[in-house]
Amino acid sequence: MSLELSGISAGYGTGPVLHDINLVVPPGEIVTLIGANGAGKSTLAKTISGLLPSLSGQILWNGQRIDRLPTAERLSRGIAHVPEGRQLFTGMTVEDNLGLGASIRPRGQPEPSARAEALRLFPVIAERLGDMAGNFSGGQQQMLAIARGLMSSPHLIILDEPSLGLAPKLVAEIFDLIKGLRDRGMSILLAEQNARAALSIADRGAVIENGRIVLEGKASDLLHSSDIAERYLGVGVAATADPAEVAKMAARLRAFVWEKG
Ligand SMILES: Nc1ncnc2c1ncn2[C@@H]1O[C@H](COP(=O)(O)OP(=O)(O)OP(=O)(O)O)[C@@H](O)[C@H]1O
Ligand SMILES: [Mg+2]
Repeated sequence: MSLELSGISAGYGTGPVLHDINLVVPPGEIVTLIGANGAGKSTLAKTISGLLPSLSGQILWNGQRIDRLPTAERLSRGIAHVPEGRQLFTGMTVEDNLGLGASIRPRGQPEPSARAEALRLFPVIAERLGDMAGNFSGGQQQMLAIARGLMSSPHLIILDEPSLGLAPKLVAEIFDLIKGLRDRGMSILLAEQNARAALSIADRGAVIENGRIVLEGKASDLLHSSDIAERYLGVGVAATADPAEVAKMAARLRAFVWEKG
């Protein structure tokens, strides 16, 4: 199943934030949407899942228009959204949080196979089903948010900044899991500021700036594009051991300080 956006604009009453967005998420691929704070990543995620109405354009899912359908209907057709900041109910148990992801099913019970699969993917959740979600660490909460998203057995999962606030080791773990979801045939739209990590697992990438897609292509090409490196990858180079990159970052930093000074 393929997701296709054409000419999408959307916003919040103060005028459009997204302008003429064209984007395709092919079946079984990871497409990453990269952009800085306020670029429009979450707005686009909400527009696809239906939390925010689009103002113009079309969203096709499996060839059918879904842009006028309510969120619950899009969810039941296989589009799940794991929102930014996890949005868990920290005063509820892990089990109850998981159950909420299945709210579209009769009596809100998760499909047994979806639940079993999520618990297999996230053993830490399986071990602590009776614990309060608020007692989980940031990384564990992110895993719970993704597991909750899987409860509806989606074909497409929209992940909004899953790496936010996590230590590099946990980011790697979460990103490995995301690759695992693709390997099971799921399509993934991954909104991220962490461009390097996202592009390194994605099939395709799109760069969003001020609500417009300004660059789009194969993830491996974007990863090696000097444009992207200058604008987005600089943030991540401190985490690399590559001496050439460290030297480049140091030079940029010196230039910056020199200009400001
Ligand atoms: N509820 C809202 N009401 C009004 N404006 C909003 C609302 N949410 C976001 N915006 C505005 O829309 C623009 C895009 O915001 P959005 O949250 O989509 O960015 P983002 O790319 O997800 O950023 P971040 O990386 O910080 O999460 C920003 O200018 C933001 O101020
Ligand atoms: Mg956001």
